[in-house]
Amino acid sequence: MPEAPNYLIQKNLVEDSVMVVSPHPLASEIGRDILRAGGNAIDAAVAVQYAIAVVYPRAGNLGGGGFMVIRQANGENAAIDYREKAPSKASRDMYLDSLGNVIPDLSTEGHLAAGVPGTVSGLIAVHEKYGKLDLRQLIEPAIKLAAEGFSITETEASRLNRFQEAFQKYNGPDCPFVKGNWQAGEVLKQTKLAQTLERIRDQGKAGFYAGPTAEAILTEMQQGNGIISLEDLQGYEARWRTPLVRPYKDYQVISMPPSSSGGVALLQMLEMIEPYPISTYGFHSVEAVHLMAEIERRVYADRAEHLGDTDFFDVPIDTLLSKNYLTNRMADFSPDSATVSASIHAGNFTIGLESFETTHTSVVDLEGNAVSVTTTLNSNFGSKVWVDEGGFFLNNEMDDFSVKPGVPNQFGLVGAEANAIAPNKRMLSSMTPTIIEKNGDLFMVLGSPGGSTIITAVFQVFINVAEFGMSLDQAVNVKRFHHQWLPDQILMEEGTLDTATQEALAAKGHQFHEVGAIAVVKAIQKLPDGRLQGVGDARNADDDAKGF
Ligand code: GLY
Repeated sequence: MPEAPNYLIQKNLVEDSVMVVSPHPLASEIGRDILRAGGNAIDAAVAVQYAIAVVYPRAGNLGGGGFMVIRQANGENAAIDYREKAPSKASRDMYLDSLGNVIPDLSTEGHLAAGVPGTVSGLIAVHEKYGKLDLRQLIEPAIKLAAEGFSITETEASRLNRFQEAFQKYNGPDCPFVKGNWQAGEVLKQTKLAQTLERIRDQGKAGFYAGPTAEAILTEMQQGNGIISLEDLQGYEARWRTPLVRPYKDYQVISMPPSSSGGVALLQMLEMIEPYPISTYGFHSVEAVHLMAEIERRVYADRAEHLGDTDFFDVPIDTLLSKNYLTNRMADFSPDSATVSASIHAGNFTIGLESFETTHTSVVDLEGNAVSVTTTLNSNFGSKVWVDEGGFFLNNEMDDFSVKPGVPNQFGLVGAEANAIAPNKRMLSSMTPTIIEKNGDLFMVLGSPGGSTIITAVFQVFINVAEFGMSLDQAVNVKRFHHQWLPDQILMEEGTLDTATQEALAAKGHQFHEVGAIAVVKAIQKLPDGRLQGVGDARNADDDAKGF
C-alpha cells in the first residue's frame, strides 16, 4: 500500500521577500523556485498555472479559463480575461427541450457543456507582455510532473474516487483517471498531458489551438456530439480589460471587470457598507450579519439582471458602482427586518457543494509586483470529458450562462438577457481575483474558488481584516456566511452563528441553510514591517504558502 506523500504544507507563513499561495504544495514550490531563479510575479503565476493543470486536475486546467489581475510595483495595474466563450454553433435555447424546459445535466456534463477553452491563450498573452523568464523555463516543471508522475494527496485520491462513475460514463479506458480505487501516495502519470505541455512550450498558443492538440479536441467533439470547431479554437483570444479600481476608506481595491461579475459585485458591497460603523457592531453580531446579508442580497439581485459579457451586452458599470445608485439601493434597508427577495422563478433546489471547485493563486515578488489569478473548469473535473489525445479535462462552463431566464444554475444563480447564451459570448463568472492597496502601497492579494460564494468570501475576508482587526490567518479561517438574493436564505458554515444570534436574525425574517465549506481563500498581506504573510485556507488540506 502506498504511503501518503509527505508534502510540506504551510498554511500560515511570514517571509521577508516573496510569497506564493496556491491550492497545492508542489505548485507553490514551483512558483517560489521561479521567483528564486529571478522570475517576476507574472512568471511565477504562469508556472503555477501550468503546474496545477497537472497536480490539481479537478480544477487546474488547460481546458478551462480564468482571470488575472496584476499590480506592478510602480502602481500600474492590468487585468486579463481568458474566460471560455460559447462555441459559434451555440444558441440561446440549446439546453431546452421542445417544451422549453431545461434538459437535466446537459449544460453541466458531457461534450455540450464545454465552452472554448481560454487558459493557454491567457497565459501566453500575459507572459508575452510581462514575463521575464523564457516560457520554456516556466513550463518545464509541469512537464516533468506530468511525464514522471507525482504522489497524489489524500484529498485528491478521495476526489478521484468520488467521480469514477462520471469518468467512466464519458471516457474510455485510456483515461488515466479511470481506476477502481485511488489511494493517497499513488503516482499519477499523465503522458498525454506532458506531450500537450511540450507542444505549448515549443509552439506557444499554436501548441494548443492548432495542430495535434486542436485535432484531439475536435476528435473528442465528434465522438461526443460536441460543437467546438477548429474556427472556435483558432479564433479564441484572451482580452485585456481595464481593471475596476475604487476606494474604500484608506484602501484602493483593484478587481476584475466583466466577463466576471466579481469586481463589480465586490466594489458594490464595499461602497454599500462604507457608511455603516461596521467595526463597532462586532464580528458575526446580529447587526453585522444582518447588514452584510442585506447588502449581499441587493448586489446579487443586480448581478442577475445587469451583469454579462460587455462585448455583447451593455453593462451599466459606472451606474452600478456610483455612490448615488448604491445609496439609493440601501434606501429601503431596515436594521429591524429582512427584505423579502422576489421569489419568481426561484424553484426548489439545493446547492451542490461538491461543485464549488476552482483554483486561486496569489503571488508577490521581490520587487513588489503582485498577481491575483483565479481559474477554473467550473465543476470538479469540469464536464468530466477528458480529451484522449490531449490529456486534459474540458470545462463545463456553459452552465454559467443563464440557460433559461430565472432558472438557477448549479450554484443556484439566476440570470436573464444580460447572460443569455450567444455564439462567441463569454459566460458570466463570479471569480474575484483582487489586489488591495493601503495608502498607495500594496496591502493584500486575494481570491478564491467557490462559485457564487467567491464574491462574498473575498468581501468578508477583507472586512475581517480592515474592520474587525483580524490577522490574515484568522480572517481567512473564521466561519463564513453567504446571501445571494435567491434562494432567499443565509447559507452558512456549521457553527457560524450561536443560537441567540441566529434567533435574533430569524426574528428579523432571515432564513438559514447550513452548508459545508464556503469558498477556499488564498491570500497574501503585506505587514506593517514590510514582510509578507501568506495564508492558505484550512478548508482545503492542500492549500499551501511558500516564500522566502
Ligand atoms: N465557474 C464559476 C464561476 O466562474 O463563477
